[in-house]
Amino acid sequence: MNNPIVSKPGNDRSFMKKVGHHLVSLLDSTSFEADQYRVLRNKVEWMHVNMDRSLIAVSSPTLGDGKTTTTINLAGSLAQNREVRVLVVDTDLRLPAVGAQLGMVGNNRPGLVDLIREPGLALEKAVQHIPQFNLSVLLPGKPQADPYGLLKSTRLKELLDDAKRQYDYVLLDTPPMIPFPDCQILAKWVDGFLLVVAAHKTPQKLLEEALNVMDPAKAIGLVFNGDDRPVFGHSQYYYSYIHQSRAAKKSSSSGQLSSQP
Ligand SMILES: Nc1ncnc2c1ncn2[C@@H]1O[C@H](COP(=O)(O)OP(=O)(O)O)[C@@H](O)[C@H]1O
Ligand SMILES: [Mg+2]
Repeated sequence: MNNPIVSKPGNDRSFMKKVGHHLVSLLDSTSFEADQYRVLRNKVEWMHVNMDRSLIAVSSPTLGDGKTTTTINLAGSLAQNREVRVLVVDTDLRLPAVGAQLGMVGNNRPGLVDLIREPGLALEKAVQHIPQFNLSVLLPGKPQADPYGLLKSTRLKELLDDAKRQYDYVLLDTPPMIPFPDCQILAKWVDGFLLVVAAHKTPQKLLEEALNVMDPAKAIGLVFNGDDRPVFGHSQYYYSYIHQSRAAKKSSSSGQLSSQP
């Protein structure tokens, strides 16, 4: 991997304060909550090894289901293995949030939009590395008006192919599936989609709509976010798990989630 820009977020303590407190995989990796993301990480690692899926988009039916939170927590969990290279790409050009959640706001470095617009610009010129978390991040860069037009560019496919060569895992934080068409474009470039469903929040009708617009072959699982049911006698705050989605059942692909150990 060529050297990405190393983020210099000041001393560890002040940097940590800027990181969203729901990012348990980064802030409190030994907690019960972070353990729930390790369950998800194990599934994703299994798919990497057995199904060669490493470029994964995280989406959900609507705004606020927990896409960004899940993407970063999953990335942080994968990156707990210091030998693993993980890149998070914020492809939500409509309402980017990865930078804010990671306390990286106010930095005007080039990002995804600049990379798409300037074919001569190499991926590593825009990727920022956060050594504390062993995490690399590609933010959107310059705000722009036509997310759909940019995302459908074949230049994005080239960039994602590059990212896949350089990193063990590439996780895309995406816009909501309803009502935007962005995820349908991204689906062409990724190995699979995780669909986040917010407990007690995501309307069933929107979930059905999202499953209908997803390519079943790319639907690799559901992440149930924010469930507060007690598990093993604990009342828990976070509870994320992944199981075979209805869409995945329709998929002809082998090695579906329910069949793994
Ligand atoms: N499991 C969770 N427990 C508590 N708060 C959560 C959880 N997941 C997300 N949130 C909070 O809900 C809000 C929306 O989450 P976010 O990840 O930004 O959703 P999306 O990216 O789908 O719009 C954020 O304020 C986030 O911190
Ligand atoms: Mg988001």
